[in-house]
Amino acid sequence: MALAEFVQQLDQLVVEADQAFSAATGQEALEAARIEFLGAKAGRLKAVQKQLATVPVADKPAAGKRLNEVKAAIEAAFETATARLENTSDEVRDETFDPTLPGPAWSLGKVHPITQTILLLKDIMGRLGFTPVEGPEIEDSWHNFDALNVPAIHPARDPLDNFYLAHAQWWGAQSGDQGHGSADMLRSQTSTVQIRTMQQQPPPLRIISLGRVYRPDTADETHYPMFHQMEGLMVDRGVTMADLKTVLRLFATAYLGNSVPVRFRPSFFPFTEPSVEVDYYWNGRWVEFGGAGMVDPNVFQAVGYDPDEVTGFAFGLGVERLCMIRHGIRDIRDLYTNDVRFLAQF
Ligand code: DAH
Repeated sequence: MALAEFVQQLDQLVVEADQAFSAATGQEALEAARIEFLGAKAGRLKAVQKQLATVPVADKPAAGKRLNEVKAAIEAAFETATARLENTSDEVRDETFDPTLPGPAWSLGKVHPITQTILLLKDIMGRLGFTPVEGPEIEDSWHNFDALNVPAIHPARDPLDNFYLAHAQWWGAQSGDQGHGSADMLRSQTSTVQIRTMQQQPPPLRIISLGRVYRPDTADETHYPMFHQMEGLMVDRGVTMADLKTVLRLFATAYLGNSVPVRFRPSFFPFTEPSVEVDYYWNGRWVEFGGAGMVDPNVFQAVGYDPDEVTGFAFGLGVERLCMIRHGIRDIRDLYTNDVRFLAQF
């Protein structure tokens, strides 16, 4: 073989080897290319090297020198490709990264304990057949008082015990307005929703209403100017006080645990007759949870129900009290200070 042809083959080989090494995207591909070009037995460089024997003797020194240069060039190209692949995987294998360490802790938000309580109460009362209904927090005093049989001169209407809105004159609402009057106060009790529901639906009824009520109390361990009530109302033919006691006992047993005794103490509410205070026996003592009674005939008349046809019971329980008893919370203010370290416990 002539020297020129031998040199041309070598030059061609460098170009091809360089291309193959550069194109390799992984260790395996690079190794395959190494064997193809630099393999000790069947490599393509070896094949060209064997042709050296056929080059004229006079040209052998030049051919040999060229062969060595090409071999060095192909090996250098291989080294470059090896380093390139190692650098790439070094980036992935960051030595400061320890895959055995726990990941960053995400702090998820939580449902507020009062909201949790409301959801649970709806669930329990739903199983007893009571449907949740809602009413406005900004009310007129016909729904908050008149329709509930609260007389015009009743002390519960006192401006010191209610949040009347600035535009309203608290005594002006005593005129027997049939509930189409303007909103003039924040509701002081969820009993308003009894009236609104009965105005819209004929009997029989089994409803609960859970929501905020407002009274200008100074905040202390057991008082807060805003709190929540669960109002219940059942109206049908022949509903009695025994039904009331059964529903309240079944409710407490489901909410507080096994067999909670319930006690009724005689009381007075304008919208019920007879009226009772409701106590549950919990952790060795009687705890008051709210009021209840048989719906007063005057209330039925105010909403157009016939008191000779139907009877009903109603009750109103404090949601904060229920929540605090269950979780052992001692200060109602903790529920509304919005300290996440406190709230995250529930
Ligand atoms: N509304 C009463 C209050 O806020 C609680 C109450 C008592 C509701 C007797 C009732 C009831 O439905 O029948 O103190």
